[in-house]
Amino acid sequence: MNERVKQVASALVDAIQKTLTEQRVTEEEWRAGVGYMMKLAEAKEMDLLLDVFFNHTIVDLKAQATRGSTPGMQGPYFLEGAPVVAGALKTYEDDSHHPLVIRGAVRTDDGAPAAGAVIDVWHSTPDGKYSGFHDQIPTDLYRGKVVADAQGKYAVRTTMPAPYQIPNKGPTGVLLEMMGSHTWRPAHVHFKVRKDGFVPLTTQYYFEGGDWVDSDCCKGVAPDLVVPAKTEGGAQVMAIDFVIERPREHA
Ligand SMILES: [Fe+2]
Repeated sequence: MNERVKQVASALVDAIQKTLTEQRVTEEEWRAGVGYMMKLAEAKEMDLLLDVFFNHTIVDLKAQATRGSTPGMQGPYFLEGAPVVAGALKTYEDDSHHPLVIRGAVRTDDGAPAAGAVIDVWHSTPDGKYSGFHDQIPTDLYRGKVVADAQGKYAVRTTMPAPYQIPNKGPTGVLLEMMGSHTWRPAHVHFKVRKDGFVPLTTQYYFEGGDWVDSDCCKGVAPDLVVPAKTEGGAQVMAIDFVIERPREHA
């Protein structure tokens, strides 16, 4: 027996039983629900559905416990082997989307500069796709590793990401529609900040005033992950200072 599994799984079963009872679910509705779960498995969307409804809850729990920056969801489009870039992410050669500069500093939880911290940056193409996952877009586009300097400072140039819809043609999209919800995510940039001896920070940042920022279908938007709208020399500026924390000592 596994005590932790027993504790969590038993609580889940209790919660579902309580809901079935309170909602007076009929046998016909129950069978429709079972059929839906079968379709979800067939469409290989179990992870998508769980991410949409519950990943933000787990990230919120992490946020409550951290001494570092607010974490965000990793999402399904991270690739471990992104190239180190100097100053700019590689974009489509004919990408005329609005320029974006992301810059700031990485500090440790005692306020010291996190020299040499490596920041994985990845975001959508101007049409809301991800390299390495959609349309055979080469994996080195719109993603890269940026290294913080001796003062912990970093800067990288790219173009604005776009809002996009999560896969919405399958059972997950059908359910969201029946629940009166849409399938849009606001434009955002993903980050993973790593340095030896520190807990990796995975997060996403959003643009103030952007479409869907107030109604992300994945509920990933925390107030301090929304950066104020700022432009400079014709480019949008996303100014972010990251704080990474040391692992907690367990008694
Ligand atoms: Fe994303």
